[in-house]
This record gives sequence, C-alpha cells and structure tokens, in this order.
Amino acid sequence: MKTIAFGCDHGGFDLKATVINHLQEAGYTVIDCGCDSTASVDYPIYADKVCNAITEGKADLGILICGTGLGMSIAANKHAGIRASACENTFSARMTREHNDANILCLGARVIGAGLCLDMVDLFVTTEFAGGRHQKRVDMLNALDA
Ligand code: RB5
Repeated sequence: MKTIAFGCDHGGFDLKATVINHLQEAGYTVIDCGCDSTASVDYPIYADKVCNAITEGKADLGILICGTGLGMSIAANKHAGIRASACENTFSARMTREHNDANILCLGARVIGAGLCLDMVDLFVTTEFAGGRHQKRVDMLNALDA
C-alpha cells in the first residue's frame, strides 16, 4: 500500500481531515506535513515539506491543497523529481497519473467541493503510470530538472 504525503495551507485546511481520514480508512499511510489550523500561512513551506517527503523516498505520492491549487503546484514544480498537477476534474486527476506519472495532486479548496475532492484523490492514488510511449516524455521532463 502506498504512503501519501499530505500538505495544505490555511486555504486548504478545511479539507485536510476529510482527505486524511479517507486515505487512512482506505488503508494508506499518510504523512501529515501540516498546516494545522486556519491561521494564515505561506503555501511554499508546505509544498516543500511534501516534495521532500517524496524525493527522500518517505512517500510515494503527495496531495497538496491550497485555495486554488495553483500556488502549491507552482511551488512543488520547482523541485527536481516532482511532477505536480493542479486538477479540477476527475479526468485530469486520472490522466496526469497515466500519462505524466505525476507524483503530486494539487487541489483548490475554494474551487471544488469535498465530494469531487475525494473522487479525484481516489483516482490519483489508484491509477498507475501507463509507461510505453509516455515514458520517453517523462524522461524528457526529468531532464529539464538538470
Ligand atoms: C491564500 O489566500 C491563497 O493565496 C492560497 O491558498 C493559494 O490559493 C495560492 O495559490
């Protein structure tokens, strides 16, 4: 079973318990990287913690939630080895695993509701990378890290 690193800022905090409980009930181990309240914080701090958990091999995948999902994705994609996608629908959440081998899903708590959020999380953590013709393109993404 995969280990999932979770991070949010104050904009995503209201979905935090819902997502973590859902993943744990499904049998996943969750690394909680904060934040821990609705007090205003800076999203790059939490993106950095989740990215480090992945690049250090402590987590397989990550979920980052801020108000829009956008700041988290911009911050996460500055880390070598991270492919983070801000998604607003289930098709994108599935395809970014299948085609891009994305390792972080970024969500906007002010954009989506809890039901869609959990459907997207489920698809993201259960869909495997398709490989094949997509492997070369992911290799090209990884080369851009250098
Ligand atoms: C915080 O107000 C908000 O800017 C943040 O959660 C996120 O949406 C940034 O991209």
